[in-house]
Amino acid sequence: MEEQIRKAAGLILNSRYTTAFTGAGISVESGIPPFRGNEGLWNKYDPRFLEISYFINNPLESWKVIKEIFYDFFGQAKPNKAHLALAAMEKKGLLGKIITQNIDNLHQEAGSVEVCEFHGNSRRLVCLECRRKYPSDGMSLDHLPPTCRECGGILKPDFVFFGEGIPQGAITCSYDAAGLADVFLIIGTTGEVMPANQIPFIAKSAGSKIIEINTEPSNFTGSITDVFIRGKAGEVMQKLAIELFTASLDNDKDGINENFEVHGQ
Ligand code: APR
Repeated sequence: MEEQIRKAAGLILNSRYTTAFTGAGISVESGIPPFRGNEGLWNKYDPRFLEISYFINNPLESWKVIKEIFYDFFGQAKPNKAHLALAAMEKKGLLGKIITQNIDNLHQEAGSVEVCEFHGNSRRLVCLECRRKYPSDGMSLDHLPPTCRECGGILKPDFVFFGEGIPQGAITCSYDAAGLADVFLIIGTTGEVMPANQIPFIAKSAGSKIIEINTEPSNFTGSITDVFIRGKAGEVMQKLAIELFTASLDNDKDGINENFEVHGQ
């Protein structure tokens, strides 16, 4: 693993623009289960509760499950070392943008600013009628389904349900960040879900080197990945950050502590 981490750090330090692409695996060490696999959410919950047509016809039934998964349980999750390392890389000028498929807001909580939310964000609710948006932590979920203060319409989490399109802003943000990249860092995604799984191919076609961190090989590993680092996102990113920041400290003398907070900016 050490050799792969040194290779990855070398690529990032010499890159003009590095983009990260993250999936559920990056949040597993924060206590959020992935979607697929034995421990995956789709083994425990029926994905139809997240189909837009089902939600529109049965908002109460959908909301009961949504509240349990995304607000009661995941709402307590905190960013882990992988999220913090990416945020520190951005502050140090070593990372351009993060494209995330995750809706848990943990990149933003870690301090990342440039984040393309490809599948939206559970920390916002949107009115199905007037499209007004609300921060979820200001809304009570005691009475379901929650409704819009302005028009009384049903509120839906502002993430992409099955059967919904990807928001145009998220597509532009993500495809631009992939096309710009000369290094593309994939962390914790199987690459099973369209159209998100096309994004790494945009980067590859634009000539980017692909680094991948995952506990298992993914759909990208045997096809487009140049440097595969097998391991848990938090553990690998901590090692990668130490390698990157030690190298960049040789140049600028900035300090960084063990929580990846950058000083001397
Ligand atoms: N560190 C790194 N990778 C991990 C870890 C870990 N600690 N734990 C699991 N993984 C890897 C798994 O090996 C798998 O490849 O993370 C990946 C998780 O894959 P999925 O559960 O399929 O999640 P993701 O690829 O993000 O799913 C994409 O599917 O249902 C939808 O909209 C949902 O955004 C989601 C999309």
